[in-house]
Formats: sequence, C-alpha cells, structure tokens
Amino acid sequence: MTGNKPHVWVSRPTFPDVIARLEPYFRVSAEPVEQVFTPAELAARLADCDAAIVGLKERIGAAEVAGAGRLRMVANLGVGFDNLDLPALTAAGIAASNTADVLNESVADYAWALMLGAARRVGAAERWLRAGQWLSTEFIGWLGADLRGRNLGILGMGRIGQAIARRAVGFGMPVLYHNRSRLPEATERECGASYVDKDHLLASADFLVLVLPLTPQTRHAVGAAELARMKPEAVLVNVARGGIVDDVALAAALREGRLAAAALDVFEGEPRVHPDLLALENVMLSPHIASATTGTRRAMTALAVDNVLALFGHGPDAGRPPNLLNPDALARAGVPSQTHQEVT
Ligand code: GLV
Repeated sequence: MTGNKPHVWVSRPTFPDVIARLEPYFRVSAEPVEQVFTPAELAARLADCDAAIVGLKERIGAAEVAGAGRLRMVANLGVGFDNLDLPALTAAGIAASNTADVLNESVADYAWALMLGAARRVGAAERWLRAGQWLSTEFIGWLGADLRGRNLGILGMGRIGQAIARRAVGFGMPVLYHNRSRLPEATERECGASYVDKDHLLASADFLVLVLPLTPQTRHAVGAAELARMKPEAVLVNVARGGIVDDVALAAALREGRLAAAALDVFEGEPRVHPDLLALENVMLSPHIASATTGTRRAMTALAVDNVLALFGHGPDAGRPPNLLNPDALARAGVPSQTHQEVT
C-alpha cells in the first residue's frame, strides 16, 4: 500500500489487536487515553480523517462535520446513536453505523443483575458492610423482595428487550411488554411475553425495565405522570438511555416511597448524576456499563472495524457496511446504496 492510505481516527482506547485489522488499508490513529473532546477539538479531529470510530460521548452534528471534507464514515461504538445527528451526517454524505445485536445478551444479563441487585438491596448492603457496620446478622434485617411470580414489564421490545424476556422463564416471572409495534405472535410465544398498552404496563409491572432508544418522542417517557401510575412496591430499571426517565421526578418518587427502588445504568446529562439520586439508598447506580464485558466490547470494536472496512470496499461485506444507519448518505456521496439495517 502507498503512503497515502486513508486515515481512520479512533476516539478512545479500544482493543489494539482488533483495530490492527484496519492497518493494511488505513493509517490509524487511536487516542491513547479516554478524554472528553470539546466540539472544536472534535471538529479538528474529524477534519483530519477519512473515517472515525467514536463512542457515545462524541456528539457529532452539522457543526462538527462542517470542515470534515474527507470524512466518509462515522462508526459508532454502541447500538444507540442519539449522539449522532443522522440527518446532518446524511446531508454531508457521511455514512454512519452502529453495533447492533452483538451486545444483546450482555445487556440483557446486566438488566437482570440490576433487577436482582435492586430487589435484594445488594449495593446498600455492601456499602453498609464496608462501612464496618456489620456486628451481627439480623434475622429480619436486609429483607428484600422475591422475583418469582411477580410481573416483569419491558418497555421497548427490540432485540435486547426480547433477550431480557427469554431469561424470565428461569425466574418464574410472567412478562408483559409494550412497544411501538406489537411483535409477531411467534416471537411473543418464544419470548413468553404478552403485549399490553403502556398504561397497563405501568400499572401492572412489579419490575419495569426500560430498553427504548432515546428520541424526541421517548424523552421523559417515564416522568412524574408515569411514575404515579406504578405500584409503590415496584422497581424501575433503566439500561437504555438517560433522558428516557425524568431523573428528578424519579428521585422524588423514590424518596417519598411512591416507588420501592430503582437501578440505573444511565442518567440525564451523564457522567453527572443528579444529586437527588446520589442521596438515596434505594437506588442502585452504575456508570453506563451494561455492555461492558470483554467479549462484547471486543465484538463491538470488531463490528465498527468491519463497517469501516466494508465502506472502503474491503472484507467480506465490501461495499455493504453491515450496520449502515443512513443508506441515503451513500447515494449522496455517489455510492450506490446496497443495504439497510433496521434498528429497533
Ligand atoms: C450503549 O449504551 C449502547 O448504545 O450501545
């Protein structure tokens, strides 16, 4: 290959051996440490590359790509892509991809970890033990809630929601779900899940797990009004996106005993966490890590690499990035559009 290889910028440390698959075709520069770029820093980096592999903290819109004359692709390390202004990228002829599917099982496992953790007060119990407060084990101390026989509600029944539902058989939990569109009957049967309207879901769920993408329509899908419809003994779990829940309204409901507990992996305005949530014992908090297993984060990196390779005509998917989000961008850039992947 010549010295004029296209340049791929990787915005964060990932897995060098996976990224190395780009090296026969590209000059690769990968940031050696995690950092938060200002919009100007991001724009400067995008102006200097032909493709970018970025994380969810990189918010990319018209201003960030205005000077990125060579940029042909933004490959997002995440299934959600609310950090990308897709219409702006499409208008600029820049393809975008995500990492759908490879993280379904890890995120589903983590949703269950949060459900169990909140039901059995794992976080609070550990804090108490570490604070040296364990003098004897009280028979009626640290009582939690059982899962068996209680209703699991899932709001947003894409592939991750379905993976969460499948696990419910082992826990003996009936599954109710609500989604923009109802699943085919065979899928409902296979997941053991029954479709209900949103109000019914809110009123019936003992555990309500949110797995919606963040869009203008889903912002505050669970706010004060929705929380008021939930059972006071219910547990709310968010593994989707901050902003889907109104965190201030949630903290008030938890504080006032209108909701038993919550477990949250995502927050409005993260990495900041609202101080009202930090002040509560009946909420379990984690730093947006639902897909963070070695296998899944490697698979996500590999998928981003595959999408870049494909866009530039390399590898088994040459010309057809498998996770292309905006086929119209290729048409605008003069490349025939060959694939379209549905994202739920
Ligand atoms: C994580 O939040 C993702 O969208 O993959």
